Amino acid sequence: MTSITPLPDWQYWQRSWDRQQEWYMPDREERFRVMTDAVEAVAGRAPRVLDLACGTGSITDRLLRRLPDAEVTAVDIDPLLLTIARGHFSGDRRVSFVVADLTDPGWTGLLPHTSYDAVVTATALHWLDTAPLARLYGDLAGLLRAGGVFLNADHMKDESAPGLNAALHTLHTERQARAREEGAVDWADWWHAAATDPLLSEVAAERFALLGDPRRPKPPGEPRDRPSATRWHVETLLARGFSEARQLWCSTSDSLVAALR
Ligand SMILES: C[S@@+](CC[C@H](N)C(=O)[O-])C[C@H]1O[C@@H](n2cnc3c(N)ncnc32)[C@H](O)[C@@H]1O
Repeated sequence: MTSITPLPDWQYWQRSWDRQQEWYMPDREERFRVMTDAVEAVAGRAPRVLDLACGTGSITDRLLRRLPDAEVTAVDIDPLLLTIARGHFSGDRRVSFVVADLTDPGWTGLLPHTSYDAVVTATALHWLDTAPLARLYGDLAGLLRAGGVFLNADHMKDESAPGLNAALHTLHTERQARAREEGAVDWADWWHAAATDPLLSEVAAERFALLGDPRRPKPPGEPRDRPSATRWHVETLLARGFSEARQLWCSTSDSLVAALR
Protein backbone atom coordinates (compact mmCIF):
# COMPACT_ATOMS: atom_id res chain seq x y z
CA MET A 1 0.00 0.00 0.00
CA THR A 2 1.40 3.42 -0.93
CA SER A 3 1.05 6.21 1.60
CA ILE A 4 0.12 9.67 0.37
CA THR A 5 2.00 12.59 1.88
CA PRO A 6 -0.36 15.56 2.22
CA LEU A 7 0.70 18.71 0.35
CA PRO A 8 1.87 21.58 2.55
CA ASP A 9 -1.05 23.92 3.25
CA TRP A 10 0.60 27.28 2.49
CA GLN A 11 -2.80 28.91 2.04
CA TYR A 12 -3.63 28.05 5.65
CA TRP A 13 -0.54 29.96 6.84
CA GLN A 14 -1.22 32.86 4.45
CA ARG A 15 -4.77 33.21 5.79
CA SER A 16 -3.64 32.78 9.36
CA TRP A 17 -1.03 35.58 8.91
CA ASP A 18 -3.72 37.85 7.47
CA ARG A 19 -6.09 37.20 10.41
CA GLN A 20 -3.30 37.90 12.93
CA GLN A 21 -2.41 41.19 11.19
CA GLU A 22 -6.11 42.17 10.99
CA TRP A 23 -6.42 41.83 14.75
CA TYR A 24 -4.08 44.82 14.95
CA MET A 25 -5.42 46.57 11.80
CA PRO A 26 -9.12 45.81 11.15
CA ASP A 27 -8.96 48.13 8.10
CA ARG A 28 -5.95 46.33 6.56
CA GLU A 29 -7.85 45.28 3.41
CA GLU A 30 -9.07 48.85 2.94
CA ARG A 31 -5.51 50.17 2.87
CA PHE A 32 -4.51 47.44 0.38
CA ARG A 33 -7.44 48.49 -1.83
CA VAL A 34 -6.44 52.16 -1.79
CA MET A 35 -2.82 51.17 -2.43
CA THR A 36 -3.76 48.98 -5.41
CA ASP A 37 -5.97 51.79 -6.78
CA ALA A 38 -2.97 54.12 -6.72
CA VAL A 39 -0.73 51.56 -8.47
CA GLU A 40 -3.35 51.04 -11.18
CA ALA A 41 -4.02 54.79 -11.54
CA VAL A 42 -0.38 55.77 -11.86
CA ALA A 43 1.34 52.71 -13.34
CA GLY A 44 -1.42 51.10 -15.40
CA ARG A 45 -2.66 47.49 -15.60
CA ALA A 46 0.66 45.73 -16.27
CA PRO A 47 3.15 47.37 -13.90
CA ARG A 48 6.49 46.09 -12.69
CA VAL A 49 6.19 46.31 -8.90
CA LEU A 50 8.57 45.99 -5.96
CA ASP A 51 6.90 44.64 -2.79
CA LEU A 52 9.21 45.83 -0.05
CA ALA A 53 9.35 43.79 3.18
CA CYS A 54 6.72 41.53 1.64
CA GLY A 55 6.28 39.12 4.57
CA THR A 56 4.02 36.31 3.38
CA GLY A 57 3.16 38.32 0.25
CA SER A 58 -0.23 39.78 1.22
CA ILE A 59 0.16 42.94 -0.91
CA THR A 60 1.43 40.97 -3.92
CA ASP A 61 -1.58 38.66 -3.58
CA ARG A 62 -4.07 41.57 -3.63
CA LEU A 63 -2.19 43.31 -6.43
CA LEU A 64 -2.13 40.27 -8.72
CA ARG A 65 -5.83 39.60 -8.14
CA ARG A 66 -6.59 43.13 -9.37
CA LEU A 67 -3.82 43.38 -11.98
CA PRO A 68 -3.13 39.86 -13.31
CA ASP A 69 -0.59 41.18 -15.84
CA ALA A 70 1.60 42.76 -13.17
CA GLU A 71 5.08 41.43 -12.41
CA VAL A 72 6.34 41.56 -8.82
CA THR A 73 9.72 41.38 -7.12
CA ALA A 74 9.09 40.58 -3.45
CA VAL A 75 11.86 41.37 -0.96
CA ASP A 76 12.19 40.38 2.68
CA ILE A 77 14.74 39.24 5.25
CA ASP A 78 12.63 36.77 7.24
CA PRO A 79 13.21 33.12 6.26
CA LEU A 80 9.92 31.88 7.73
CA LEU A 81 7.66 34.51 6.18
CA LEU A 82 9.48 34.08 2.85
CA THR A 83 8.92 30.30 3.04
CA ILE A 84 5.17 30.88 3.32
CA ALA A 85 5.29 33.47 0.50
CA ARG A 86 7.24 31.13 -1.80
CA GLY A 87 4.76 28.34 -1.05
CA HIS A 88 1.75 30.60 -1.61
CA PHE A 89 3.05 31.75 -5.04
CA SER A 90 4.66 28.45 -6.00
CA GLY A 91 4.73 28.09 -9.82
CA ASP A 92 3.58 31.69 -10.40
CA ARG A 93 6.12 33.09 -12.87
CA ARG A 94 4.94 36.67 -12.24
CA VAL A 95 6.52 36.67 -8.77
CA SER A 96 10.23 36.47 -7.92
CA PHE A 97 11.77 36.64 -4.46
CA VAL A 98 14.88 38.36 -3.16
CA VAL A 99 16.34 37.86 0.32
CA ALA A 100 17.76 41.21 1.42
CA ASP A 101 18.21 43.43 4.45
CA LEU A 102 16.85 46.87 3.55
CA THR A 103 19.33 48.48 5.94
CA ASP A 104 22.22 47.05 3.93
CA PRO A 105 23.47 49.86 1.63
CA GLY A 106 23.98 47.37 -1.25
CA TRP A 107 20.49 45.82 -1.17
CA THR A 108 19.31 47.26 -4.51
CA GLY A 109 22.15 45.36 -6.25
CA LEU A 110 20.34 42.09 -5.41
CA LEU A 111 17.21 43.01 -7.39
CA PRO A 112 16.58 41.47 -10.83
CA HIS A 113 15.68 44.91 -12.30
CA THR A 114 17.16 48.39 -12.04
CA SER A 115 13.83 50.18 -12.57
CA TYR A 116 10.24 49.75 -11.27
CA ASP A 117 6.88 51.37 -12.02
CA ALA A 118 5.70 51.10 -8.41
CA VAL A 119 7.10 50.26 -4.96
CA VAL A 120 4.61 49.15 -2.30
CA THR A 121 5.08 48.35 1.38
CA ALA A 122 2.94 47.90 4.50
CA THR A 123 3.48 47.64 8.25
CA ALA A 124 7.22 47.25 7.83
CA LEU A 125 9.28 50.40 7.55
CA HIS A 126 8.59 51.39 11.19
CA TRP A 127 11.19 48.69 11.96
CA LEU A 128 13.84 51.06 10.55
CA ASP A 129 15.47 53.95 12.42
CA THR A 130 15.32 57.48 11.01
CA ALA A 131 18.72 57.54 9.26
CA PRO A 132 18.45 54.17 7.41
CA LEU A 133 14.83 54.92 6.50
CA ALA A 134 15.74 58.31 5.00
CA ARG A 135 18.54 56.57 3.07
CA LEU A 136 16.10 53.89 1.89
CA TYR A 137 13.73 56.59 0.59
CA GLY A 138 16.65 57.89 -1.52
CA ASP A 139 17.28 54.33 -2.81
CA LEU A 140 13.61 54.07 -3.82
CA ALA A 141 13.74 57.37 -5.71
CA GLY A 142 16.65 55.84 -7.65
CA LEU A 143 14.74 52.62 -8.36
CA LEU A 144 11.48 54.17 -9.57
CA ARG A 145 11.16 55.34 -13.15
CA ALA A 146 10.20 59.01 -13.68
CA GLY A 147 6.48 59.20 -12.90
CA GLY A 148 6.54 55.96 -10.89
CA VAL A 149 4.76 55.70 -7.52
CA PHE A 150 5.79 54.74 -3.98
CA LEU A 151 3.16 53.67 -1.44
CA ASN A 152 3.84 53.11 2.24
CA ALA A 153 1.03 52.08 4.64
CA ASP A 154 2.40 51.99 8.16
CA HIS A 155 2.10 53.20 11.74
CA MET A 156 2.22 56.98 11.32
CA LYS A 157 0.28 59.40 13.46
CA ASP A 158 -1.43 62.70 12.97
CA GLU A 159 -0.88 64.19 16.43
CA SER A 160 -3.05 67.24 15.78
CA ALA A 161 -6.14 65.76 17.47
CA PRO A 162 -4.94 63.87 20.58
CA GLY A 163 -8.38 63.69 22.21
CA LEU A 164 -9.94 62.11 19.16
CA ASN A 165 -6.98 59.76 18.76
CA ALA A 166 -7.25 58.65 22.39
CA ALA A 167 -11.01 57.98 22.17
CA LEU A 168 -10.64 55.91 18.99
CA HIS A 169 -7.65 54.06 20.46
CA THR A 170 -9.74 53.09 23.51
CA LEU A 171 -12.54 51.74 21.29
CA HIS A 172 -9.98 49.76 19.25
CA THR A 173 -8.34 48.19 22.32
CA GLU A 174 -11.76 47.24 23.74
CA ARG A 175 -12.62 45.50 20.47
CA GLN A 176 -9.24 43.77 20.46
CA ALA A 177 -9.83 42.49 24.00
CA ARG A 178 -13.23 41.06 22.99
CA ALA A 179 -11.72 39.43 19.90
CA ARG A 180 -8.98 37.84 22.07
CA GLU A 181 -11.66 36.35 24.31
CA GLU A 182 -13.21 34.87 21.17
CA GLY A 183 -9.87 33.30 20.15
CA ALA A 184 -8.08 35.93 18.00
CA VAL A 185 -4.38 35.20 17.60
CA ASP A 186 -1.79 37.88 18.40
CA TRP A 187 1.84 38.25 17.17
CA ALA A 188 3.40 36.01 19.86
CA ASP A 189 0.70 33.32 19.52
CA TRP A 190 1.12 33.27 15.74
CA TRP A 191 4.88 32.71 15.95
CA HIS A 192 4.36 30.04 18.57
CA ALA A 193 1.92 28.19 16.29
CA ALA A 194 4.21 28.56 13.25
CA ALA A 195 7.22 27.22 15.18
CA THR A 196 5.32 24.13 16.27
CA ASP A 197 4.23 23.18 12.73
CA PRO A 198 6.74 20.57 11.41
CA LEU A 199 6.48 22.32 8.03
CA LEU A 200 7.98 25.50 9.48
CA SER A 201 9.94 24.47 12.59
CA GLU A 202 13.33 24.48 10.84
CA VAL A 203 12.90 27.94 9.27
CA ALA A 204 11.43 29.17 12.56
CA ALA A 205 14.69 28.26 14.33
CA GLU A 206 16.59 30.06 11.56
CA ARG A 207 14.35 33.12 11.95
CA PHE A 208 14.69 33.25 15.72
CA ALA A 209 18.52 33.04 15.47
CA LEU A 210 18.64 35.77 12.81
CA LEU A 211 16.00 38.26 13.94
CA GLY A 212 15.02 37.30 17.49
CA ASP A 213 12.22 35.23 18.96
CA PRO A 214 8.83 37.01 18.83
CA ARG A 215 7.28 34.40 21.17
CA ARG A 216 8.97 36.16 24.08
CA PRO A 217 8.62 39.80 25.13
CA LYS A 218 11.57 41.93 23.94
CA PRO A 219 14.05 42.84 26.69
CA PRO A 220 14.15 46.61 27.22
CA GLY A 221 16.88 48.08 25.02
CA GLU A 222 18.20 51.46 24.02
CA PRO A 223 15.44 53.91 23.00
CA ARG A 224 15.12 53.84 19.19
CA ASP A 225 15.07 56.86 16.93
CA ARG A 226 12.08 56.01 14.73
CA PRO A 227 9.89 58.54 12.93
CA SER A 228 6.21 58.30 13.88
CA ALA A 229 4.63 61.38 12.24
CA THR A 230 3.07 61.22 8.77
CA ARG A 231 4.59 64.63 8.07
CA TRP A 232 8.13 63.27 8.53
CA HIS A 233 7.53 60.72 5.76
CA VAL A 234 6.06 63.27 3.34
CA GLU A 235 8.88 65.77 3.94
CA THR A 236 11.64 63.15 3.75
CA LEU A 237 10.29 61.71 0.48
CA LEU A 238 10.26 65.20 -1.04
CA ALA A 239 13.80 65.83 0.21
CA ARG A 240 15.03 62.49 -1.18
CA GLY A 241 14.03 62.92 -4.82
CA PHE A 242 10.23 62.54 -5.08
CA SER A 243 8.31 65.28 -6.91
CA GLU A 244 5.07 65.05 -4.86
CA ALA A 245 4.03 63.26 -1.70
CA ARG A 246 0.94 63.20 0.49
CA GLN A 247 -1.19 61.13 2.79
CA LEU A 248 -3.69 59.16 0.72
CA TRP A 249 -5.55 57.37 3.53
CA CYS A 250 -5.41 57.27 7.30
CA SER A 251 -6.80 55.63 10.42
CA THR A 252 -6.18 56.69 14.02
CA SER A 253 -2.74 55.10 14.18
CA ASP A 254 -1.75 54.52 10.56
CA SER A 255 -1.39 56.34 7.25
CA LEU A 256 -0.90 55.42 3.64
CA VAL A 257 1.62 57.86 2.17
CA ALA A 258 1.97 58.09 -1.61
CA ALA A 259 4.80 59.75 -3.51
CA LEU A 260 5.43 60.32 -7.19
CA ARG A 261 8.94 60.04 -8.57
C1 LIG B 1 4.59 43.01 10.02
S1 LIG B 1 5.45 42.37 8.63
C2 LIG B 1 4.50 43.00 7.25
C3 LIG B 1 4.59 42.10 6.05
C4 LIG B 1 3.67 42.48 4.88
N1 LIG B 1 4.09 43.72 4.26
C5 LIG B 1 2.22 42.56 5.31
O1 LIG B 1 1.64 43.66 5.26
O2 LIG B 1 1.66 41.52 5.70
C6 LIG B 1 6.96 43.31 8.56
C7 LIG B 1 7.94 42.75 7.53
O3 LIG B 1 9.07 43.61 7.39
C8 LIG B 1 10.21 42.77 7.21
N2 LIG B 1 11.43 43.53 7.51
C9 LIG B 1 11.66 44.24 8.65
N3 LIG B 1 12.89 44.78 8.61
C10 LIG B 1 13.44 44.40 7.43
C11 LIG B 1 14.69 44.65 6.82
N4 LIG B 1 15.62 45.37 7.42
N5 LIG B 1 14.92 44.12 5.60
C12 LIG B 1 13.97 43.38 4.98
N6 LIG B 1 12.76 43.11 5.51
C13 LIG B 1 12.51 43.61 6.73
C14 LIG B 1 9.96 41.63 8.17
O4 LIG B 1 10.76 40.52 7.90
C15 LIG B 1 8.48 41.38 7.92
O5 LIG B 1 8.25 40.50 6.88
